[in-house]
Amino acid sequence: MANILCIGAGYVGGPTMAVIARHCPHHRVVVVDINPERIAAWQSDHLPIFEPGLEDVVRETRNRNLFFSTEIQRGIAEADVIFVSVNTPTKTFGQGAGKAADLQYWEKTARQILESATSPKIVVEKSTLPVRTAEAMEHILNFNSKGMQFDVVSNPEFLAEGTAIQDMEDPDRVLIGGRDTPSGQRAVQTIAEIYRNWVPQERILTTSLWSSELSKLAANAFLAQRVSSINAISALCEKSGADVTEVARAVGLDRRIGPRFLRAGVGFGGSCFRKDILNLVYLCEYYGLYEVAAYWEQVIKINEYQQGRFTSTIVSAMFNTVAGKRIALFGAAFKANTSDTRSSPALAVCRALLEERAEIVISDPKALENARADLGETASQVTFEPDPYLAARGAHAIAILTEWSQFTGLDYERIYQSMAKPAFLFDGRNILDHQALYDIGFNVFAVGKPPLTHL
Ligand code: NAD
Ligand code: UGA
Repeated sequence: MANILCIGAGYVGGPTMAVIARHCPHHRVVVVDINPERIAAWQSDHLPIFEPGLEDVVRETRNRNLFFSTEIQRGIAEADVIFVSVNTPTKTFGQGAGKAADLQYWEKTARQILESATSPKIVVEKSTLPVRTAEAMEHILNFNSKGMQFDVVSNPEFLAEGTAIQDMEDPDRVLIGGRDTPSGQRAVQTIAEIYRNWVPQERILTTSLWSSELSKLAANAFLAQRVSSINAISALCEKSGADVTEVARAVGLDRRIGPRFLRAGVGFGGSCFRKDILNLVYLCEYYGLYEVAAYWEQVIKINEYQQGRFTSTIVSAMFNTVAGKRIALFGAAFKANTSDTRSSPALAVCRALLEERAEIVISDPKALENARADLGETASQVTFEPDPYLAARGAHAIAILTEWSQFTGLDYERIYQSMAKPAFLFDGRNILDHQALYDIGFNVFAVGKPPLTHL
């Protein structure tokens, strides 16, 4: 039996450790966090994050071999293996501000491990970090007066929110990077052994530390790049009369390209794509690779352009003014099946429409609490309404901002009857039947498609 500790009980730490605990009943898994409210929520029936399937795994493992605790020092002292999945946001001050990763939480964690450790440990970098962070971690940990040896391993996480449990249960690959020394390779094998309890051997990849760190940044950059590519094409479709769904299908049927991640919309959100690409851009600039940096930065610029374009379409379609008009935003989460609103395009659109003095009401099945918190002071100008029918009542327009399946099954005839006329519908996720909405009476604007209007 091994004692596994995870520092950071967030969107990654909680679900990943729950799945490890499920498949490794012979190991004891403890998840700690500095935030006592988060830990209390993990111990309760009201988990701090919504993730399909998560409740079942937690119910099965909690207090069997999965434990949540605020006792970080004790956790470190007892652990053999320590996964670190603390947050690594973009730096907002000093050198590299706005691009580089803010590594203060990361370094604090390293020092804390050193302080509380009484025996050698394997420290696993689970958070997404710039290349060569593991080296810095090794320096902090191994220049110690305790005479202890720490092995640092990189094991980036590839799960996506909304499908986290499925992604952990059946990963495309598990990546483990380590030092090419006997103890480094032993550490890699110890981590691989954990995953071998349910992941086929051929999907467990081992590489150098740096390749592993860079692969994580590169994978997110490639995914985001596909979204920006199709969004760039959607702008051209709107000008030229082509339909982006048809184009995406035709392009994606090429097996070399593949159909996934080609959904045009209001742009990508979430806590990682932007942060990780900025990180990559900073790394390239650091190494003097300015052309490479500019190439990846363009992925973010197109994303900002796409979000701005969506709001401009709303304002211009509604006779160039939305001041005082009620607009119902359907969706607050950055994607469906999550309660996460971090960097959600829905909130960006919300803020932009508030600037235009629109009266905003947001409806979302799971993310209203987080939306309120993320909007901060501006939340007082917004109405939060879980029932989409009530949200749309008296509204001049509806904007679909998250692709929740709940929004496709609504009675839009009934909604139309309750709205101010002319009624507008802006489908920022292209999930509705636009011709049917037009037939009901809506003026319909979708992304990358010709508008359907009665005006
Ligand atoms: P999160 O903010 O949800 O969770 C991080 C947790 O770490 C917080 O609860 C925070 O209180 C805790 N923490 C911070 N400093 C601490 C310390 N010194 N001691 C104990 N706890 C501490 O973040 P997240 O979304 O889980 O992301 C964590 C990392 O994983 C990031 O590097 C992210 O890029 C990466 N990642 C995230 C996802 C995702 O889907 N969210 C997927 C893959 C990788
Ligand atoms: C993403 C990656 O998919 C994960 O592999 C990675 O582990 C994770 O980032 C991370 O490092 O944090 P996530 O951000 O949770 O996962 O969700 P995605 O499914 O990638 O969606 C990101 C954003 O892109 C969402 O706003 C989504 O709506 C948008 N998107 C995605 C599109 O607009 N179109 C698409 O075709 C796909």
